Amino acid sequence: MTYAKRFDGRKFDEIRPMEAKVGIIKRATGSAMFKMGNTIAIAAVYGPRDVFPSFLQNPSRGLLRCHYDMMSFSVTERKRPGPTRRSNEISRVTESALFPVVDLSKFGNTGFDIYVNILQADAGTRTAGINAAALALADAGAPMKDLVCSVAVGKVGDKICVDLTKEEEDYKDGATDLPIAVLPRSGKITLLQMDGNMTQKEIKEALEMGKKAVQSIKKLQVKALKDKYKGAGK
Ligand code: CDP
Repeated sequence: MTYAKRFDGRKFDEIRPMEAKVGIIKRATGSAMFKMGNTIAIAAVYGPRDVFPSFLQNPSRGLLRCHYDMMSFSVTERKRPGPTRRSNEISRVTESALFPVVDLSKFGNTGFDIYVNILQADAGTRTAGINAAALALADAGAPMKDLVCSVAVGKVGDKICVDLTKEEEDYKDGATDLPIAVLPRSGKITLLQMDGNMTQKEIKEALEMGKKAVQSIKKLQVKALKDKYKGAGK
């Protein structure tokens, strides 16, 4: 059956309404909030700081560690507190999505810890988390050669869509979710996962759609950073 109209009325290539704010957790070295529709992620960065356990210290390069979790109340069925296989996987893929942009060469024996938490989940939590984490790292003053912008693309019924909601992910005739993270300047992809089935042609089409969407994410991230630092030093 054809998916003629999106549940929330968006165009197929339209991202959900987004909001971003930097500096929301005052005691962290850097922090940010990123909202995509009903999905809200917050990220706090601490570092550079000593790495424990100490056997993880690397004298020639700093460490980047990500800890992703969801609040118990972020989903309709209460999520039990504590790590799960899913949260561990998302922590690892978030680390590898961010790692290529951060220059850790001057941070031997120390590291940056990035805590991502989801306040409200309506699909795309890893993507909102990566957007928030990139902002929090920039806010922490970590040397970065680019931002990292993330969005899910995919297929709902017979239609290629961007930024799927949970309702779309659960579409009765099937849906495919393909979260990506892109470095907006070079276009390099640092996260690409897929849950479902798409043909090679559909994946190409979805990636093109995703790459367009990341440019609007980048604009919002830059604005959020400027909003915080506007007037700083005066
Ligand atoms: O959140 P993301 O799309 O990155 O990852 P997912 O594992 O594909 O989860 C999709 C969605 O399922 C989440 O965003 C939540 O809305 C929902 N979910 C849930 O309701 N309960 C969980 N324990 C985990 C996920």
